Amino acid sequence: MDTIKTPLITCKMKEELFVINNIPYFHSFFVYNLINKVKSSDFGNDFLWGVVIAAQQNEGAFNVDGRGLSIWDVFARKQGKIKNSDNPSHACEFYYRYKDDLLLAKALGFKVFRFSISWTRILPEGIGRPNKQGLAFYHKVIDECLELGLIPFITLYHWDLPFELEKEGGWTSHLLLKWFSRFVTICMHEYGDKVKNWIVLNEPMGFTSLGYMLGKHAPGRFGLDNFLPAIHNAAMAQAEGGRIIRSEVSNAYIGTSFSCSEVMPYSDKDADIKAANRMDILLNRLYIEPTLGMGYPFEEGFAFTDKLHFHNKAWKYTERMKFDFDFIGIQNYFALTVKHNAIIPYIQASEVSAKTRKVPITAMGWEINADSFYRMVKRFAAYDGVKDIIISEGGAYFKDQLINGVVDDQERIKYFQDYLSALLKAKQEGVNIKGYLAWTLMDNFEWAEGYKARFGLVHVDFKTQLRTIKNSGYWWRKFLS
Ligand code: FCB
Repeated sequence: MDTIKTPLITCKMKEELFVINNIPYFHSFFVYNLINKVKSSDFGNDFLWGVVIAAQQNEGAFNVDGRGLSIWDVFARKQGKIKNSDNPSHACEFYYRYKDDLLLAKALGFKVFRFSISWTRILPEGIGRPNKQGLAFYHKVIDECLELGLIPFITLYHWDLPFELEKEGGWTSHLLLKWFSRFVTICMHEYGDKVKNWIVLNEPMGFTSLGYMLGKHAPGRFGLDNFLPAIHNAAMAQAEGGRIIRSEVSNAYIGTSFSCSEVMPYSDKDADIKAANRMDILLNRLYIEPTLGMGYPFEEGFAFTDKLHFHNKAWKYTERMKFDFDFIGIQNYFALTVKHNAIIPYIQASEVSAKTRKVPITAMGWEINADSFYRMVKRFAAYDGVKDIIISEGGAYFKDQLINGVVDDQERIKYFQDYLSALLKAKQEGVNIKGYLAWTLMDNFEWAEGYKARFGLVHVDFKTQLRTIKNSGYWWRKFLS
């Protein structure tokens, strides 16, 4: 057994098992990082380091300058949908404070600024006549980024569908593709000269499952009758969006982003292994495989995939779910352990929470596991047809405390160090990783969790809008300098 000595700890290393001060530790990147601190220069000079926000979570100004309502504006007003009855009406007021906030992103050392365009600012009714003031706002944000030397990466859809379109069926409507294509075309005509980096959808699995199957996110719909058409329209829209950008914008760098979570069976029982496999199909394969031209995943005996394939026969032009993206965005927030559970419809699996398994978790209850992140990056990169990979979001919520103007969020710093070490390992092994974008610049409206779940590098006091850079923000600045 090798023994590595540092001033503070003694660390014995044997394969994947680490022992620190006689405590066995399985999270190897944590230890790797203690011994061998990850440096930004290890990733190369052209690596894209960035920070991310999203329109609905940050902008506020929900009824200003002609903006229409989105599904989240409406959903948040229904009782019991959002913790603490919070709503996104004002959020961080990025609409008014974008100049200061972009300066913050720059001051923390980031090169890339990823943000999303609110469809309802551009087209208040989702279709119809574009809103000049909405168009102008994103010109201002883009120009400010360029002025500051921040490279804009723009997401076209980060979950804020115009409410007027939801009335007509939203993501379940066969017209969705038309509506979305028009929105994308307008954005390309408007901004395509200035912005070359585009992300078509943010986590289609996230918004279709939480919004159309489980009712936990806007628009709050339930069941397979909603979920199946939403899946299909999202898969089609994602590829169609890519095609529109390709045809309208010269030298575009086009991607889309997928959530992913490694799924482990709770035991080695056959039933648990099968349950994990079903969950894996849903969480990790459902969207990337049709995008790569492999069609929807299928598993004998899994009624959900039977139904998906049954519908697929009736759906037209399914070959158009494929698009040759320049990069794939990966967003990995947790690893999952599941066991067989006959009561749960279709999936027949349920989570064994990280808390009950006594593994490290964030304040969201999400399992922290950098090794698992490393494996997911490798797995997505191994698909035929995946070119570049960008970690298009990564970050964590911890219970921050603001004391005398300081947020000493050591857990978040450690989280980034561990995950970046894991990423570096994948990169050094040959994975074509081009960038890492941290979620998120500042605390914001965290969907159904409201304002309580703080993921920011900058603390926001939502009463006064005062911004305070957390120690994790300072850590990034040092890391990137
Ligand atoms: C991702 C979302 C992002 C944020 C983080 C915590 O799934 O894309 O908007 O909510 O989770």
